[in-house]
Formats: sequence, C-alpha cells, structure tokens
Amino acid sequence: MYKRNILITGGAGFIGSHVVRLFVNKYPEYRIINLDKLTYAGNLANLRDIEDKPNYRFVKMDICDFEGTLQLMREEKIDGIIHLAAESHVDRSIKDPFTFARTNVMGTLTLLQSAKLYWESCPEKYQGKLFYHISTDEVYGALEMTHPEGIEPPFSTRASSSSHEAYGNEFFVETTKYNPHSPYSASKASSDHFVRAYHDTYGMPVIVTNCSNNYGPYQFPEKLIPLFIHNIRQRKPLPVYGRGENVRDWLYVEDHARAIDTIFHRGRAAETYNIGGFNEWKNIDIVKTLIRTADRLLGRAEEEDMGLITYVADRLGHDMRYAIDSRKLQAELGWEPSLQFEEGIEKTVRWYLDNEEWVDNVTSGDYQRYYEEMYHLQK
Ligand code: NAD
Ligand code: TYD
Repeated sequence: MYKRNILITGGAGFIGSHVVRLFVNKYPEYRIINLDKLTYAGNLANLRDIEDKPNYRFVKMDICDFEGTLQLMREEKIDGIIHLAAESHVDRSIKDPFTFARTNVMGTLTLLQSAKLYWESCPEKYQGKLFYHISTDEVYGALEMTHPEGIEPPFSTRASSSSHEAYGNEFFVETTKYNPHSPYSASKASSDHFVRAYHDTYGMPVIVTNCSNNYGPYQFPEKLIPLFIHNIRQRKPLPVYGRGENVRDWLYVEDHARAIDTIFHRGRAAETYNIGGFNEWKNIDIVKTLIRTADRLLGRAEEEDMGLITYVADRLGHDMRYAIDSRKLQAELGWEPSLQFEEGIEKTVRWYLDNEEWVDNVTSGDYQRYYEEMYHLQK
C-alpha cells in the first residue's frame, strides 16, 4: 500500500524524466506511474538509474487513448496527476500543427475526462485528488524589447546571471492575458483553458503552472542549447535565427522539477503559478557563452569556434521576448532557484560533452529500439 499513487505523463521526456527521478527517489512511500508514448522525444534511457525501483512503473500509452488512460487510473487508483506529455518544439509545430493539436489539446482533454470519470466514481470523489498541468510562458505571447541594451531588472534570484539584465519593463504575471502566436503555444493555451474549465465546470481540483525556457541534461538535441553544444563539438554551423536578438528567460531543469514538487504538495487548487528565475538572455549571448564554455572544456583555443555562428532566415512568427515574474510562487510557497545561470550552463555543457553517446543514440533511435526489444513494446 502506497501513500499516494501518482501518474506522471511524459516522464520519458526532458523535464518529465527529471520530475520522475525526483519523485521516485524522494518519495519511496509514493507509487509513480510514468505514462509515455515514447515519441522521438521520449526515451527510457533518460531514466536508467531508477527503472528498477520498486515504487516505479512505466506504461507505454498515448494520452489520447481514453479507454486505456481510464483503465490505468482505475487499476492504479491514481489520486494525483502531473501532466507533462506534449509535443514541445516550436519549429516542429510550424511544420506540423495537427500533431500539436492532437496531443496537446485532445490528449489533455482525454486525460481530464478519464480523471473526471474515475474520480467521480470514487466514494471520496475529488477529495485528496489533483490534476496538475505543466504549461509554458509562451501562452502569454511576446513582450516588447523596450531596452535593447538591457537594464537593471527590479528583482533578482539565484538563477539570475551575474550580468543580470532585463530587456524590457514588462514581465509575464499570472493574470497576463493569453496571446499565443505559434501553433505550439496556441495548443498549450487551449489545453490550459480546458484544464481550468474542468475546475470551473465540474469542480475538479487543478493547478496550472507556466514556466520559462528550461535547459539541462537529457534535452533532445533539437532545442537551442543542446543542439548548439552538439554542433560546437562537431564543428558544425550554429544556425542563429534572424539577428540573434530574441530574448528568452532560462531556468535549470532541476529547479523546475523542484518547483513542481513544491507546487504539487503545497500549491492551492485552482491557482496558476508562474515559474522562472529572472534570467533573461539574448540568443546570441547564450550562443557565445556556449562556445566559450565548450572550447574551454574541450581544450580548444579561446573563442576558436566563434566562426561557426551562422545567421539564417528568422523563424516564422518568432516571439521577441519572454520574461517571467515568479514572485507569487516565491512569496507564497518559498520556492527559489538553486543554481546560477553560469553554473547551470557549465554543468550542462559538461554533461553533453561527457554523454556524446546519449546524443548519438537518441538522435539515431538506437535507445528506442533497445527498450522496445527489452520491454517487448509495440511501435
Ligand atoms: P519533451 O518533448 O522533451 O518530452 C515530451 C514527452 O511527452 C516525451 O517523452 C514524449 O514521448 C511524450 N509524449 C508526446 N506525445 C505523447 C502522447 N500523445 N502520449 C503520451 N506521451 C506523449 O518535452 P519537455 O521539454 O520535457 O516538456 C514537458 C512539458 O513541459 C510540456 O508540456 C511542455 O509544454 C512544458 N514546458 C516545457 C518547457 C521547456 O523549456 N522545455 C518550458 C515550459 C513548459
Ligand atoms: P528553442 O530552444 O526552440 O525554444 P523556444 O522556441 O521554445 O523558446 O529556441 C530558443 C530560442 O533560440 C528561440 O528564440 C529560437 C532560437 N533558435 C535559434 O536561433 N536557432 C535554432 O537552431 C534553434 C533551435 C532555436
């Protein structure tokens, strides 16, 4: 008998694997069910260190499978859901928006409906239950660059970089009106609305969190930071979109996982919390930092690889600036990022350089084939 039975979706992906690892190790009294379809972005190799733990179970399933998810919730007596499964890459959403609507919108709705049917059939109904939906700051749209050179921001956290600049006066707060631009952010916005609708209509206890850009180990090498570290190592061009002036707000993935833990346990139902560390960076400055760090760790001459920077056509509808104000979460629940950006980047570059085999295997599909055979998983 476990104290709680928690379903984590998308646990084989980047952020999900850090959340699963944290929960499995920190809470042996909880049973953790990791439900994942294992798309190109999901890899069981991300969880090798915990796959044999007695309180962990992996289930290969599509979140759009209504019968399957309902049956699993009944079988495992699920009382908490942390929903991370999604299609997550903006560039892919521009090429193939339908997959994003299917998984992010219909998949989330399917899970909500399964949870509703199962929980309403329990004697205690919604008591002690929680549907926690993980979302992104991209739903809020883009902020203006009112200070292209950067100014001293009004707040700082441990995650803020040592240079610590803000590129505008406005920040996303929990009440900022939704204004998504990419098919990815439009699909996440829609799913956020469905989650809140299940609270407002049926009384389901839900929480939504909107986090800034994550970085760290196990991120699929198509996103900016892991792709560029890989390319620097291979001395391949680094395709910077537009002029590289776009600003993103970066948080180390383990700090996001810790925030999710805090909010899952102490967050108030029906609330939204923004998660971020006041750590804005222009893309081009990140790229230069990655080159300097990688060159140093690889023993190459200083700045040797700056020539790899290649400006390419801008992303369609490229949002200019994201910047999260997470003071509600900090004030209410006392969460703080633990890692300063320079430390986080050093750790991340080191991890990718030390784990070249992981990069090769996730990009070639070798790990997926290995686990399919080992678990007799169907494609
Ligand atoms: P990811 O792409 O690395 O992982 C997504 C996981 O979901 C994969 O394991 C994949 O196999 C699984 N999945 C996809 N479609 C599925 C389906 N139909 N059924 C079951 N599983 C499916 O994504 P990530 O970067 O770890 O993001 C996780 C969540 O966090 C997403 O909801 C994303 O919107 C959100 N988020 C991400 C960031 C970021 O910077 N990466 C920031 C804020 C919020
Ligand atoms: P990305 O990692 O795709 O995250 P998101 O689009 O969700 O913020 O991109 C981060 C930033 O880096 C974004 O402004 C787009 C830019 N970018 C490039 O310039 N080149 C690339 O090859 C990629 C993948 C991203």
